[in-house]
Amino acid sequence: MKGHVAGALRWRDLPGALLHWLRRGLGSAEDFRAAFARSLGLDPAQAGEVHLFGTGRAALHAFTASLDLPIGSEVLLPGYTCVVVPNVFMHLGLAVRYVDIARDDFNPTPHAISDAISAETRLVVVPHNFGLVTEGLDALRAKHPDVVFIEDAAHAWGSTDAIGRMVGTLGHAAFFSFEYSKPLTTGIGGALVIHHPASRERFAAHMTTHEPANKPTEVAAHGGAHGAALRSPSTSTVFKQLLTLCWHRLTMSLPRPALQMLTALLRAPSRMLGVVAKTPDSEVAGETEPDYRAGLHPLSAAIGLMQARRFDEVHALRRAQASDYDALLTSLPGWEWPVRAPGAVLLRYPLLLPDAATRDAAIAALEDAGIVGGTWFDDVVHPRGSRRFGYSDGDCPNGERAARTVLNLPLGRHARLSPSQRAAVRAIAERHGGRTP
Ligand SMILES: Cc1ncc(COP(=O)(O)O)c(C=O)c1O
Repeated sequence: MKGHVAGALRWRDLPGALLHWLRRGLGSAEDFRAAFARSLGLDPAQAGEVHLFGTGRAALHAFTASLDLPIGSEVLLPGYTCVVVPNVFMHLGLAVRYVDIARDDFNPTPHAISDAISAETRLVVVPHNFGLVTEGLDALRAKHPDVVFIEDAAHAWGSTDAIGRMVGTLGHAAFFSFEYSKPLTTGIGGALVIHHPASRERFAAHMTTHEPANKPTEVAAHGGAHGAALRSPSTSTVFKQLLTLCWHRLTMSLPRPALQMLTALLRAPSRMLGVVAKTPDSEVAGETEPDYRAGLHPLSAAIGLMQARRFDEVHALRRAQASDYDALLTSLPGWEWPVRAPGAVLLRYPLLLPDAATRDAAIAALEDAGIVGGTWFDDVVHPRGSRRFGYSDGDCPNGERAARTVLNLPLGRHARLSPSQRAAVRAIAERHGGRTP
């Protein structure tokens, strides 16, 4: 199947990472941190701005906790996001309010963000959903000097703004996710990048004064050399993450019938043995809290390193594939494209279809052609059925519409379409076009 997961990972990266980790041990995290910093255009002296975590949500939690915001402070969130983002603020006792996305984008406009800022607003999460860039951060920071802006760059590794600056270097801070479906994956993992010098100092002080209570093995957020301890994932946790990563990578190599058969065969035993590493349903429902002090295992970091070193190639491929979809899908009444600036490196190629039924029919037809069509985000607070902390129906009409009608086409190493698949995409788009909204 041509799909969305492990989009920068090659099979040979796995033995490569294992050898690197055996040779370098804890130094693997340091190497990944330096390579990731380089991929963001930071020079070696700035590598200390990057901190590695066990998840993106842990990075966001640690940064927010370091701000020591008074209980009840307000945080603005995009009205189109992943449940783990609002959950961070729920767990920190902070109030959230959602800013709707624009009708022709999957992000709020800087105007909408600015208008939504109130006297209680202390922090704004600025998204770059799908790798589409939210511009205007300089003006927002200048106009609201008491507000901290953190970029959610989970989808946007490699995107640049209108004047060529890397996403993830525009706010006071930014966080990235290295989960299976992200542009670079370590299985599960994340990074925090802090540019604002005073925030960096506060963060360092916070991490050294809030050591985890029980710390059998430790890794440093900095990557091993110094800094505050995070809890290193246990061997069994890393093993599960690796197994799950291999499974995701395998799904990208198998034809549809083989994948269906293997999935049916493995579903029950994998559940029984509990070998799949993913966000538990109880966390999605807002009933349990993740381990926000989870660090990134050096072996996982070595897997990240193998991909981070090839950043130019990874980004160039995604850009070329997005341009190819642009060319393939021209002149289709009823399908809508978000406004996309030239600097965007897309995680997925997102479209809005006329309605949910048309979208679902297109997904079924794509599957017949061996292509996984995505329905991310299927709710304003994804996934549908999650705890929508602080969200009420109708708060963000554009976000709700996007959740009903979004279709995303795959990009990355495992989404290189054959000529017949390209023809199928065009035919499906023509068949499922429909009315102009
Ligand atoms: C937009 C967005 N932000 C944040 C996250 C959280 O990242 P992580 O799963 O690494 O905690 C995700 C995805 O999972 C996401 O899609």
